[in-house]
Amino acid sequence: MRRLLGLTVLVGLVLAQSGAQLYQQNCGFCHGEAGQGRAGAYPPLAQHTPELVKTPEGRAHLLRVMLYGMQGPVRVRGQVYDGVMPAFPQLSDEQIASVLNYILTAWGNDRLLPRDHRPFTAAEVAALRASGNRLSPQQVGEARARLQVP
Ligand code: HEC
Repeated sequence: MRRLLGLTVLVGLVLAQSGAQLYQQNCGFCHGEAGQGRAGAYPPLAQHTPELVKTPEGRAHLLRVMLYGMQGPVRVRGQVYDGVMPAFPQLSDEQIASVLNYILTAWGNDRLLPRDHRPFTAAEVAALRASGNRLSPQQVGEARARLQVP
């Protein structure tokens, strides 16, 4: 039992670490090593991504941003950004779930998540990939503009 517990903790750590590594390799350059963003250019993810999952469409939005990218004006924590977020279809379903779980829990974001939040799974990513509902980055931006994010 103790060994099993140890193993669970270890697997948890490896998964968390891979999310962190994926973030630093693919995202940190723009969104900042600590998710702080860059004023006027790249929106912050710290203290922001939990606000997205609180909206009904927020979960779908995060998956779309990863698979299709995003373009068009977006207001984040009172600032407007109008840049281009590249898509990451080359990452595996597991990697996408892992990096999304990282940006939702890192930098104190875990404390801001709604109580009923469930981590992203590879199956959810696979389902969107298989859906054939491909959106352009502009369409992802337009759908984002309709989300009621504070
Ligand atoms: C080349 C710079 C760049 C990289 C690399 C990048 N992003 Fe972005 N990201 C942006 C920009 C710019 C936006 C805002 C797009 C817009 O204005 O429509 C954005 C938007 C987002 C959003 C949506 C925020 C919202 O409020 O809708 C999320 C989530 C996000 N990025 C996560 C990530 C993750 C995770 C990675 C790495 C896998 C990543 N980004 C890599 C530039 C980048």
